Amino acid sequence: MRLIADPAEVRGLCSSLPRPLGFVPTMGALHEGHLALVARARERSASVVASLFVNPLQFGAGEDLQRYPRDFAGDRGKLEAAGVDLLFGPSPEAMYPATFSTSIDAGSMADSFEGAIRPGHFAGVATVVVKLLHLVGPDALFLGQKDAQQTAVLHRVIHDLALPVEVEIVETVREADGLALSSRNAYLNESERAAAPTLHRCLLALRAALERGASKSEASAQARGTLAGGAKLDYLDVVDAETFEPIDDVRPPAFVIGAARFGTTRLIDNLWIREARA
Ligand code: PAJ
Repeated sequence: MRLIADPAEVRGLCSSLPRPLGFVPTMGALHEGHLALVARARERSASVVASLFVNPLQFGAGEDLQRYPRDFAGDRGKLEAAGVDLLFGPSPEAMYPATFSTSIDAGSMADSFEGAIRPGHFAGVATVVVKLLHLVGPDALFLGQKDAQQTAVLHRVIHDLALPVEVEIVETVREADGLALSSRNAYLNESERAAAPTLHRCLLALRAALERGASKSEASAQARGTLAGGAKLDYLDVVDAETFEPIDDVRPPAFVIGAARFGTTRLIDNLWIREARA
């Protein structure tokens, strides 16, 4: 596996790799969820490029940029073992020199839910991903279903700007108790970790109630009851899969989405609603 830190070098190296080229952007602290993206990219591509960059643009003031878990040596070993051909790991200064001032605004879908709680977050995500796509020039971009709104926003940006890349979505990888793998799970103490799977249970309950024909408000009320006592729900809703607009008349493809705080740690999760039920 080649390790490249310099943005000026990465484009030329990537363009000489055998096609199709699959790209997996990450912020590191890698777990089996990230590695599922790499495995899918490996299956579908002749070459796989991963990036490891904790993107300051997508962290708000007072968020966890400084304490975001970092393990470059461990991540490098995992990516090499997973068959990545080239790892791009730039410094913040190399990606964002002092003169950097461009931002990609994906419009209203970037302002709801995660975007409402984390203003500017999706502009930071969209800006870094578009820059990474230009540097790497892949045929396919591999993203996790875990971050459903991020995926929807990036689909929108890629479509709107006619970027020549396919997007492949990989199912959420979970712990045995249902908790979606996340680098932020490392922040949970023992009792928070024990409570955290109730976010997934809450979404399962919401989906099941909707599928039984309950109204959204009835279903939400039932589902809220399954969340652990100490957890604080930021939102629980049903959205159209493409636009991420809340929907009352639940029609697939849609997602049930939720975000909750366990202590100071915010976790997000979602489930597909694929089949119409009367
Ligand atoms: P990061 O949180 O490191 O996630 C990298 C990719 O892994 C994302 O596409 C995310 O959806 C996916 N992922 C995370 N947890 C997963 C899980 N449990 N199962 C499946 N896939 C999972 O998302 C980002 O980084 C950044 O915003 C990034 C896109 C790299 C831009 O900076």
